[in-house]
Amino acid sequence: MAGSSATQFPAQEPAGSQAGRGRGRFYITTPIYYPNDRLHIGHTYTTVAADALARYHRLRGDETWLLTGTDEHGQKIERAARQAGKEPLEYIDPIVEATRQLWQRLHISYDDFIRTTEPRHKARVQQIFQRLYDQGDIYKGVYEGLYCTACEAYYTEAELLDGGRCPVHETPVERLQEESYFFRLSRYAEPLLEHIERHPGFIQPPSRRNEVIAFIRQGLQDLSVSRTSFRWGIPVPFDPDHVIYVWIDALANYITALGWPDGELYRRFWPADVHLIGKDILRFHAIIWPALLMALGEPLPRCVYGHGWLLIDGGKIGKSRAGGQVIDPVQLIEKYGVDPVRYFLLREVPFGDDGSYSEEALVRRLNTDLANDLGNLAWRTTGMIQRFLDGRIPRPPAGASDGVLAAAAQETAARVEQALDRFDLPAALQAIWDLIGRANKYIDEQAPWALRREGRQARLEAVLYDVAETARVVGVLLSPFLVETPARLWTQLGLGPDYRPAGWQQGLEWGQLPAGARVVRDQPLFPRIELDEPAAREAGDGVTAAPAGPAVAAAAGTKPTPQAGTAAAAGPAGAGGGAAPAGQVTIEEFGRIELRTARVIHAEKHPRADRLLRLEVDLGGERRQIVAGIAAHYRPEELVGKTIVVVANLKPAVIRGVESQGMVLAAEDGQGLALLTTDRPIGEGSRIR
Ligand code: MSP
Repeated sequence: MAGSSATQFPAQEPAGSQAGRGRGRFYITTPIYYPNDRLHIGHTYTTVAADALARYHRLRGDETWLLTGTDEHGQKIERAARQAGKEPLEYIDPIVEATRQLWQRLHISYDDFIRTTEPRHKARVQQIFQRLYDQGDIYKGVYEGLYCTACEAYYTEAELLDGGRCPVHETPVERLQEESYFFRLSRYAEPLLEHIERHPGFIQPPSRRNEVIAFIRQGLQDLSVSRTSFRWGIPVPFDPDHVIYVWIDALANYITALGWPDGELYRRFWPADVHLIGKDILRFHAIIWPALLMALGEPLPRCVYGHGWLLIDGGKIGKSRAGGQVIDPVQLIEKYGVDPVRYFLLREVPFGDDGSYSEEALVRRLNTDLANDLGNLAWRTTGMIQRFLDGRIPRPPAGASDGVLAAAAQETAARVEQALDRFDLPAALQAIWDLIGRANKYIDEQAPWALRREGRQARLEAVLYDVAETARVVGVLLSPFLVETPARLWTQLGLGPDYRPAGWQQGLEWGQLPAGARVVRDQPLFPRIELDEPAAREAGDGVTAAPAGPAVAAAAGTKPTPQAGTAAAAGPAGAGGGAAPAGQVTIEEFGRIELRTARVIHAEKHPRADRLLRLEVDLGGERRQIVAGIAAHYRPEELVGKTIVVVANLKPAVIRGVESQGMVLAAEDGQGLALLTTDRPIGEGSRIR
């Protein structure tokens, strides 16, 4: 009899051992989603993660197959259709179409999209059922149990919440009794445990593995695998009063889509390298599915990876729990662009754990990681190449580079590979951002503007070449994750619009930026976004950051008089000293304004406003970007190296699309404008009292 002992199953490598497999095959799946409603950002999470892993493997040269689809049978769908006054397919079709469009907008590179209502699927599910029946793994009996319609699953008393409610949906379950076919799941408890023990990577992350082991150890009961209570499903081939339990129908998609039992794709791609799923459907994938495969005598997937949930206010995302947040991925893409949405999903939540979703967190990631770190690296680099090297990628003389960034890039690639071999997408992105941070820091340390001043041309060229080449490599490393940004980045670096690395390894080889290529400096890669951007902030009429809310209210930078602070102190009026008479501030009120010295490390024209400069300043270890309305009075290069005075605790404001994280102080007399500075050298970040 098939599947009675673990030793019958084809031996496999443990999952997660892809490292070093080199050119091979990679088959990855997402759950097939229920088309009873439009998908939200939570479903998008799994799919984007699967896409990133598929893209990575393709780039590595692995023959890759990414499967997704829709799970279209079952009572839940039947009811939703009926409530809408439609036939099931009539109800489902537009939702499936919207799902496909969503994946298209997110550039999901799926190789196949399976619908469980397709004949290719239905016929094979019936074949599976028949075979299991014929060999005695499925038998007829009577089932009585507590059933949650939304889950399409029975629960034991012990699993229910108080008041007999479903642990997932928190709605009451129903007691159902029906004639049913059963799958002999109990037979597979031992072989399954043995398999899990022998293959530590089979269920990941480890916490999920432990959960499954504990569950199986309690003993597995045979599973009811047919229903007579509704019609919308695949009929049992030899008893058409019964439809096949939707989870058997659904799980089978992973092999029916490949043409099990003898299709070409099946031979090429099975077993799957990873079924990526949310933890909500872990038991189906880590117990029922492997047991079915054992019964069929087919190899088990290498890994079932149950990631955590994206939560809103600690609860599952749903219509009832959107918490005022945008949860429609299409709206988010329209508002922020495809790459910011993809980046947020892949970066924000430690993979495997739960994480919080909020639009604010998305905007924070966009502003700090994408606009500030990555966008700035490209903008600064191309800016300096423009100014110091006539806009052309240099050919530094041999030996002029210190090799620091080349080594950092190589080390990063190894970290990214290791992280992706354990499916840890956020760790891979963290490694890439460490490299971006290193490159930004390298610019500060090497101070190309000083090299230029000192006439050290070879060093200047070497530094700028290495920084630009690092940015190119960052584009390669980001290729699995982001779909538009790498090409935009390469274009800025002067690589033509058709540049695509031939593969991962080839792309990572150092030194591919061609000397003489002309950098393109159209606009920063990412605009900074403010969630509720008051119109006033964009005004930025003169000097620096326009006042942000009740912060410093003086015309920024023009008259840093004590009066400037009055509005700032208007909040907790007169805290610690009583309110001052109109027109005056108390010393405590004045003390709330944090003035500090800062050294200008970089200055350039604002990309969108002639009167503004964008400064990067060092506040004593902390780097800030400040927009200042001083372009009519200072040339950018005059400012670099100066110690100036800034309001350090001014609420950031976006000025013509660039965030200003503070304000510079200057005196103005109608004739001209002079920046405040100190009368002898003092460390950057020093407090001014
Ligand atoms: N149709 C079944 C799956 C069958 S697979 C053989 C199903 N569909 S579902 O539409 O409910 O999708 C469930 C999956 O969507 C989860 O396992 C997870 O991958 C994803 N997510 C749905 N909401 C999610 C979050 N809030 N957070 C993370 N993932 C979420 O179950």
